[in-house]
Amino acid sequence: MAKEKNLFVCSDCGGTSPKWLGRCPSCGAWNTLIEQAASPAASGGGNNRFGTAYASLAGSAELAVLSEIEASEVARTPTGLDELDRVLGGGIVAGGVTLIGGDPGIGKSTLLLQAADALQRGGQNALYVTGEESGAQVALRSRRLGLELSQVQVLAEIQLEKILGTLDAHRPAIAVIDSIQTIYSDQLTSAPGSVAQVRECAAHLTRFAKASGTAVVLVGHVTKEGALAGPRVLEHMVDTVLYFEGDTHSSFRLVRAIKNRFGAVNEIGVFAMTERGLKGVANPSAIFLSQHAEPVPGSVVLVTLEGTRPMLVEIQALVDNGGPSPRRLSVGLDRDRLAMLLAVLHRHAGVACMDQDVFVNAVGGVRISEPAADLAVMLAITSSLRGKPLPKGFIAFGEVGLAGEVRPAPRGQERLREAAKLGFSVAVVPKANAPRKGAKEIEGLTIHPVERIEEAMDVVRQLSH
Ligand code: TYD
Ligand code: MG
Repeated sequence: MAKEKNLFVCSDCGGTSPKWLGRCPSCGAWNTLIEQAASPAASGGGNNRFGTAYASLAGSAELAVLSEIEASEVARTPTGLDELDRVLGGGIVAGGVTLIGGDPGIGKSTLLLQAADALQRGGQNALYVTGEESGAQVALRSRRLGLELSQVQVLAEIQLEKILGTLDAHRPAIAVIDSIQTIYSDQLTSAPGSVAQVRECAAHLTRFAKASGTAVVLVGHVTKEGALAGPRVLEHMVDTVLYFEGDTHSSFRLVRAIKNRFGAVNEIGVFAMTERGLKGVANPSAIFLSQHAEPVPGSVVLVTLEGTRPMLVEIQALVDNGGPSPRRLSVGLDRDRLAMLLAVLHRHAGVACMDQDVFVNAVGGVRISEPAADLAVMLAITSSLRGKPLPKGFIAFGEVGLAGEVRPAPRGQERLREAAKLGFSVAVVPKANAPRKGAKEIEGLTIHPVERIEEAMDVVRQLSH
């Protein structure tokens, strides 16, 4: 039988072309044609959405009434790495597909080799497919990790069909594919790492996971092009998406769940990269503080909530004379939000930075997305502009609205308690987050509740004197 020819389908309009073109012949968009493997379903049905083409397929799937479907809790197998289990929602799930994304060199292979080994030692068969490194390189890493006696099976292979064959023959409890961008399928002519290949391979591996019950972990590099052939194109296909965060220059790494069909999202795992691999940090609240002997201008400690854990992160700002078009740069914080906060500062607190360069940074490579960082960012900017440090032991949190109001942050009491526990003594927080009159005070912490940004500025001015 002649091999069916693959089609190139436009990701914008759905138009097709028999060969790859830079521009879609139907809608004229550039770089949108993506190869698709010819399959009987695709070639048979065509665009005939309501015609008879699918009639022969009807009846092949059974309907079920929702209330009659047994809703069993998914069984999880802890990996044995507590911080990883925390982000996964308890452990790996049979038949579940997890995508782990992150910059090259951040520790994906290290973490997964450690997890595979821990599972193997717990009696689960683990298979590690390496497409990036040779078996010898993986072995070298395992020695470095102190896993000389590891029984994890390693397959150095990049062809999907061979990988699936091996997986099917061995049916491991967990299979790690490191990385999805190196794997290619024979069915497509596109190069490994292209959107078409990455999608096709992930789809086959997902199908295998569901059919066999093997938990599959896909490693994906965040490529320069980011959205293109990086892990993003797979997010909708998999059950769980984890991303590595952190500065490759600092030793701390965060693993964040951004999607989890089996657990809570936005939970984070905290690790430290050591000489012998990644070690979980069970109590991470203070790791993102740089230790200044004396308070310095432009530095404010924010109590942020990551998943279920409060963490203290130093926010730094530098405000300096800018040129004709002053710059606004932020690392770890949203840049659009920074522009908005500067406008609020000007309008409601009379702090003008129009002719100044403004840089803000969340120390340690953490990414902070919650608006509760607003107040700390604004206080850091003002402190840098005026050259006045905040008092020793100072913390802040709270969202600031366009009208200058300071809005409460979720779980304020927990944040305050964590700060007090770490020895912080002065807090400026939204009024609704301060303990109510007559309620038990938080020992060691003087709390200044504020309702507006102007008020926060006044409090800080008095404290700095
Ligand atoms: P790696 O896990 O290969 O990153 P990725 O798979 O995400 O590309 O390695 C991450 C870095 O960590 C690498 O530069 C070497 C370093 N490293 C350690 O510091 N300690 C260790 O025990 C290991 C195995 C690696
Ligand atoms: Mg790697």
